[in-house]
Amino acid sequence: MKPVILSAFAAVTPVLAGFDSWAPPGPYDVRAPCPMLNTLANHGFLPHDGKHISKKETENALFDALNINKTLGSFLFDFALRTSPKKNATHFSLNDLGNHNILEHDASLSRPDAYFGNVLAFNQSVFDETKKHFTADIVDLQMAANARMARILDSRAINPNYTMSDLGDSFTYGESAAYVAFMGDKNTGTANKSRIEWLFEHEQLPQHLGWHRSAETFQQGDLTRLMDVIRNLTKASFPQEFAARMRKRTISHWGFN
Ligand code: HEM
Ligand SMILES: *[C@@H]1O[C@H](CO)[C@@H](O)[C@H](O)[C@H]1NC(C)=O
Ligand SMILES: *[C@@H]1O[C@H](CO)[C@@H](O)[C@H](O)[C@H]1NC(C)=O
Ligand SMILES: *[C@@H]1O[C@H](CO)[C@@H](O)[C@H](O)[C@H]1NC(C)=O
Ligand SMILES: *[C@@H]1O[C@H](CO)[C@@H](O)[C@H](O)[C@H]1NC(C)=O
Ligand SMILES: *[C@@H]1O[C@H](CO)[C@@H](O)[C@H](O)[C@H]1NC(C)=O
Ligand SMILES: *[C@@H]1O[C@H](CO)[C@@H](O)[C@H](O)[C@H]1NC(C)=O
Repeated sequence: MKPVILSAFAAVTPVLAGFDSWAPPGPYDVRAPCPMLNTLANHGFLPHDGKHISKKETENALFDALNINKTLGSFLFDFALRTSPKKNATHFSLNDLGNHNILEHDASLSRPDAYFGNVLAFNQSVFDETKKHFTADIVDLQMAANARMARILDSRAINPNYTMSDLGDSFTYGESAAYVAFMGDKNTGTANKSRIEWLFEHEQLPQHLGWHRSAETFQQGDLTRLMDVIRNLTKASFPQEFAARMRKRTISHWGFN
């Protein structure tokens, strides 16, 4: 009797969770503008339906899959809560993260601007623009800086409603740091291009390309250091664009910069 019940249940949501388990979202599952959180839900590290995610679930998922320090996991969860439409929320759902101009911002690497389309859905033509800047088999932080700026310049040119808050700007650095660090090596700041592309395009951990969970815990200081490197490279490569952003800068929001 029990296996029958389990297999009926598996049609709705996978019973197994982890590196050996993966299923794309079903029709009642929700997903985020974040390729990694979607990936973790597809693997079942986060609830496969993407809904009602607690702090503990977030900390454990980020730790179990990616060896992210749980204090950093908690810090990131607190940002996610701000996107919930509920007052005093204690949980968030992945689609909450798409609520425009809270965390979600224009000039994403793989999603259209809210002005043009669905910010939750991966968009191949947008990501193809990003990929043009991955000019070698090993992607480094300079390429990540170039790709980030290319998307900003493109959005500014074509989106009459282009908006980028200071928090959004900080997030763009963090996201660029994150795909390099988590698909590659946080110490060298490099990652195999095929793994990065697989993550975005399939929302699956690229284990068949040799990816595995890092043995070293990823700390908040790793994130701020990598963001700082990309920011410095951006300043050096695009001095006018960088200065324009700084002139707009007011106070840093919530200490995330
Ligand atoms: C609780 C933890 C996390 C939260 C709340 C979160 C939230 C978000 C949000 C709101 C976005 C959308 C920004 C946009 O408008 O483009 C985003 C994008 C992104 N996130 Fe996450 N994220 C988390 C963890 C991670 C991790 C661990 C990675 C590691 C690779 C990651 C990688 C990315 C990347 C690369 C993007 C940019 C996607 C794009 O520009 O198309 N995130 N994340
Ligand atoms: C996690 O980070 C906090 C501070 O950010 C630090 O005190 C703690 O030692 C770290 N834990 C691990 C296991 O690395
Ligand atoms: C939210 O929390 C605040 C402060 O703790 C409280 O005053 C308020 O009543 C709460 N709102 C709801 C809708 O629970
Ligand atoms: C348009 O810009 C305004 C002001 O920056 C912003 O509040 C709004 O969310 C934007 N809407 C879209 C669809 O981009
Ligand atoms: C992807 O984005 C492009 C440019 O913003 C848009 O023209 C296209 O319709 C989008 N494709 C999908 C499938 O949404
Ligand atoms: C990147 O990963 C692929 C798949 O494992 C591998 O074939 C390729 O040699 C790697 N490239 C580099 C430069 O390490
Ligand atoms: C970034 O540039 C600032 C100012 O030049 C410098 O103090 C800082 O050490 C640099 N950070 C990194 C990580 O290279």
